Amino acid sequence: MTKTQVAPSLLAADFTRLGEAVDMVNRSEASYIHIDVMDGVFVPNITIGFPIIKSISTIASKPLDVHMMVVDPGRFVGMVRDCGAEFMNVHAEACTHLSSVVESIRRAGMRPAVTLNPATPVGMLQDIITQVDMVLLMSVNPGFGGQSFISTTLEKVVRLRELIRETGSGALIEVDGGVNLQTAPALVDAGADILVAGSYVFNAADPARAVAELAKLTPRV
Ligand code: DX5
Ligand code: ZN
Repeated sequence: MTKTQVAPSLLAADFTRLGEAVDMVNRSEASYIHIDVMDGVFVPNITIGFPIIKSISTIASKPLDVHMMVVDPGRFVGMVRDCGAEFMNVHAEACTHLSSVVESIRRAGMRPAVTLNPATPVGMLQDIITQVDMVLLMSVNPGFGGQSFISTTLEKVVRLRELIRETGSGALIEVDGGVNLQTAPALVDAGADILVAGSYVFNAADPARAVAELAKLTPRV
């Protein structure tokens, strides 16, 4: 049985102690560090940019999962690569030529991932699913941490799992938004591989333990 992978989202960390937050993730059972880039246009918020991601990459021992909540993310493939990202996550809604962007991420030596907002149907990935290494399903409308989980995401995970099976794609399924110990078990049952968690991890008294609790979840058959 494959273990659930956890990607703590630094958005919920104390930014005055970012280094300590990265250290915590390094020492925890997390598989990735999730970094949220926002441009104030695609989403109504602005967060971290490339200089900060570069600094994080110098002390991170876990691979970076960079979630680009920006208009036309294809403009930034080179800059994300220069930050040492493993996954570059682009929103399907933000790309006019999604297939070209995915290919340019791959050519840059990163693993391409496509993100879908809650209102975007899984079916739109039909003709691109075999080109991507990961699909990130948003379980909140992107822009802010600490929002409530949208439960219809569970059916989307099931539909995505089915699409992956039908097409023989190797894509991993990641879910982001409102993930905690209450919402995570059903996501894992539905077929999620990677759970992004911000507030649940960083607001916990023992963040590394919160990561471990998510990581030990396995599908209840
Ligand atoms: C929201 C971001 C998330 C956010 C999740 O737009 O993409 O990664 O940090 O935060 P929580 O886990 O608090 O919902
Ligand atoms: Zn995110």
